[in-house]
Amino acid sequence: MPAQAAPVDCARVKCLALTFDDGPGAHTPALLKTLAKARAKATFFLVGKRVEERPEIARQIVARGHAIGNHTYSHAELTARLDGDILDELKVTQEVIEKATGRRPDMFRPPYGRTDERVLRAAGEAGLSEILWTHTTLDWSLKDTAKIKATVLKQARRDGVILMHDVVPQTVRAMPGILKELRKRGYHLVTVPVLLRGERPKPGVSYF
Ligand code: NI
Repeated sequence: MPAQAAPVDCARVKCLALTFDDGPGAHTPALLKTLAKARAKATFFLVGKRVEERPEIARQIVARGHAIGNHTYSHAELTARLDGDILDELKVTQEVIEKATGRRPDMFRPPYGRTDERVLRAAGEAGLSEILWTHTTLDWSLKDTAKIKATVLKQARRDGVILMHDVVPQTVRAMPGILKELRKRGYHLVTVPVLLRGERPKPGVSYF
């Protein structure tokens, strides 16, 4: 277990949760360096098959004190799947992530934000809470470092959850400037569990 700094109390200070979906990818190590330099923590929603391709990077994410969640095995649109398939997508990913990192997630995020009662029920069965977001940057379509930075800074607000992608190289390149400005504005960059005031997210419950 990595040494933990004193926990941030988001009831007292201005917190913001940056979240990165779809990795681990080739640009994730650079992002981890940037986050470490700024002493910022984030939450990564990992795709099972990408964890199989890059287990070492998944391990690094955890070792550096970030939170991880399940983002399905194949980045599946879960609402279009049968109940059994939904459960498989979630459960296989739990196994893959646990094998790579030694940690079993208790959070998941549905690809494309596509969720319904069946998805939530399967999540509950897999021991997972559903973590959505307050703002999405659409960084994958912006593909422009300056625009991504401007979008994040415009969306930032206390207790927000911002959705980005560590597989978008422009996002990773924008991050040093984003972190610098957020810090100037007094934000503490925390993981989703810290943002939830240390209250353990409950299986089958949707947040944000
Ligand atoms: Ni995704």
